Amino acid sequence: MDTFILGIESSCDDTSAAVLRNEVLLSNVTASQDVHLAYGGVVPELASRAHQQNIVPVVDQALKRAGVEREQLSAIAFTRGPGLLGSLLVGVSFAKGLSIGLGIPLVDVNHLQGHVMAHFIKENDDDNHQPPFPFLCLLVSGGNSQIVKVNAYNDMQIIGQTIDDAAGEAIDKCSKVMGLGYPGGPIIDRLARQGNPEAYHFARPAIKGYDYSFSGLKTSFLYSLRDWLKDDPDFIEHHKEDIAASLEHTVVDILMNKLRKAVKDTGIKHVAVAGGVSANTGLRNAFHEHADKYGWNIYIPKFSYTTDNAAMIAITGYYKYLDKDFCDITEPAFARM
Ligand code: KG4
Repeated sequence: MDTFILGIESSCDDTSAAVLRNEVLLSNVTASQDVHLAYGGVVPELASRAHQQNIVPVVDQALKRAGVEREQLSAIAFTRGPGLLGSLLVGVSFAKGLSIGLGIPLVDVNHLQGHVMAHFIKENDDDNHQPPFPFLCLLVSGGNSQIVKVNAYNDMQIIGQTIDDAAGEAIDKCSKVMGLGYPGGPIIDRLARQGNPEAYHFARPAIKGYDYSFSGLKTSFLYSLRDWLKDDPDFIEHHKEDIAASLEHTVVDILMNKLRKAVKDTGIKHVAVAGGVSANTGLRNAFHEHADKYGWNIYIPKFSYTTDNAAMIAITGYYKYLDKDFCDITEPAFARM
């Protein structure tokens, strides 16, 4: 018998719902929140209000597009954390209410595990490009930079992570101080394609093991900016492509150096990338170069599965459902790991 899972994601500023038939994605509907653009960053209170407005129509659309009736659902999977607490509460409460109403199990999903599990979403029944276990996953989002050793669906080990800022956060902040806009990731990506990645040099961290650090890069970027603007107030306007290319190049290099070390030490050559920053062109190119040069088998997600989406929550929920790993109705949302 087929299993139908409804996934719900509301951890930050995207309200998303998805429906799966077993591992195959039937629909994935996401409402983004433009209300934050004017503020240059996500405003938590506005995010939770927008989730409240969006959640019913988004879930409704996801079921309609999937051609699935509520009564056919086997379980509801939802993001329990980490994320913005007010935003999470909207999805968590909605999922709990619907599960009581329909009398079906609830499955709680860790948002970060969801990003990794995005690699198991199938587009159709013949889609077979899933990584074999064990594999390494570089998880790079706005709030996290981690190297995860994935032994099984339910067995993931973080072997390295940032001790301060995340890669996405560093890019976003550098873009913001240059006045380029928010979120900076896609803007820097676009500008970087037309610039020289060797034009400027920024500080690189010297951290032991597989851990990352991006706060030194951010500080050295600020010092460079101060010096550039002292001599020429229009410096950014004239050199933004080179600055973006150099910044992106440094971030990608820092990420790949540690990942290379992890591959070498573990001997695991199946390497995936996940999270919002995995949309980045420079990072994707670096993965392809490493595949050619070092014989890595690489797994790069579709763009629609890089940023926050409910499809990744639904697929994680599907595997937990098969294990009967259900969540009690009294479990609260959590903001941090
Ligand atoms: O995974 P995600 O959607 O949200 C979190 O769970 O954090 O990641 C958002 C991050 C932001 O920092 C955004 O700037 C970055 O992903 N991002 C990119 C690109 N697209 C999104 N960074 C670099 N290049 C991109 N093309």
